[in-house]
Amino acid sequence: MVTDAEHMASGGPGAPEDTVDFGFRRVARTEKAGMVRDVFDSVARSYDVMNDAMSGGLHRLWKDTMVSKLSPRPGQHVLDVAGGTGDIAFRIVNRSRKGEDGAAAHVTVLDINQSMLSVGRDRALDRGLLDGLDWVCGDAMNLPLPDRSVDAYTIAFGIRNVTDIAQALREARRVLKPGGRFVCLEFSRVVLPTLRRLYDGYSLHVVPRIGRVIAGDADSYHYLVESIRRFPDQQAFTTMIEDAGLSQARHLDLSAGIVAIHTAWRI
Ligand SMILES: C[S@@+](CC[C@H](N)C(=O)[O-])C[C@H]1O[C@@H](n2cnc3c(N)ncnc32)[C@H](O)[C@@H]1O
Repeated sequence: MVTDAEHMASGGPGAPEDTVDFGFRRVARTEKAGMVRDVFDSVARSYDVMNDAMSGGLHRLWKDTMVSKLSPRPGQHVLDVAGGTGDIAFRIVNRSRKGEDGAAAHVTVLDINQSMLSVGRDRALDRGLLDGLDWVCGDAMNLPLPDRSVDAYTIAFGIRNVTDIAQALREARRVLKPGGRFVCLEFSRVVLPTLRRLYDGYSLHVVPRIGRVIAGDADSYHYLVESIRRFPDQQAFTTMIEDAGLSQARHLDLSAGIVAIHTAWRI
C-alpha cells in the first residue's frame, strides 16, 4: 500500500509544480520524459516476455478485450499511441481484416522510444504484417498529426508514463475526427479489498524480482509498479477524459479493476 507519508512526499498537496511523479519519487518536470525513455530502452528486448511473466498471460486477454471494444473496420485509420512493440496494432489489423487477404484498418504506431518501435517492426516482419502499419517516433503530448485526421485513438499501458496526461488527452481529441473513438487500457484500482492487498504485495515485491531475473533490471520494474499507484483511479481518470473535451466517457473494469478500459467519443 502507498502510505500517506509516501503520497505527501510524492505529489501530495504542496508539491512544487515544476516537479512530477516518477514512480514514488518527484523529479523535475523537464527530466521525466528522458527517464521514462531510459526505462523502456532498458526493458525493450525483454518487454514481451516480461508481460507474460508478470501477468500470467492475462495482458493478452485484456488487449483482446480492448480491441474487441474498438471493433475496428477495414479502411479506418487508427493511431496507436505509446504503441511500443505493436501488440495493439497487430490485433487491430488482424481483427479488422475482411477475409484472408482482404482490406484491413491502417494503424500508425507512435511511440517516444525508438528501441520499442524497432522490436515492434521486427515482430511485424516475423508475422508477415508488411502492409497496414507505419511506425512513428513521437510524443503523445505533441502528436505529429493534423487536426481531425484519425478515426480512432488507442493507448494501452502508455498514458501513465506521460509527463502531462491532460495535455496528451487534449492531443487525442485534437487528432480525432468528429465521431472518432478514444479507447485507453490502463492499470487502475482493484475494487476488492482482499485482492487489492494480495495484488499490492505481488506487484511491489514480486514483480521487481521477476524483472531482475528475466530483464536483469529490477529498478525499471520498481518504476513501472510505482507508476501504477500514482495513476488516477477509474472515476478520476474518467473526469480527466471529459475535461479534455471528449464525450460520453465510460469505463469497464477487467480482473476486478487491476486494469480498466476507458472509452469516449469526439463529438
Ligand atoms: C508499458 S509500454 C506499452 C506498450 C504497448 N502499448 C503495450 O501495451 O504493450 C509503454 C510505452 O509508452 C511509451 N511512452 C512513454 N511515454 C511516452 C510519450 N510521452 N509519448 C509516446 N510514447 C510514450 C514507452 O516508450 C513505451 O513503449
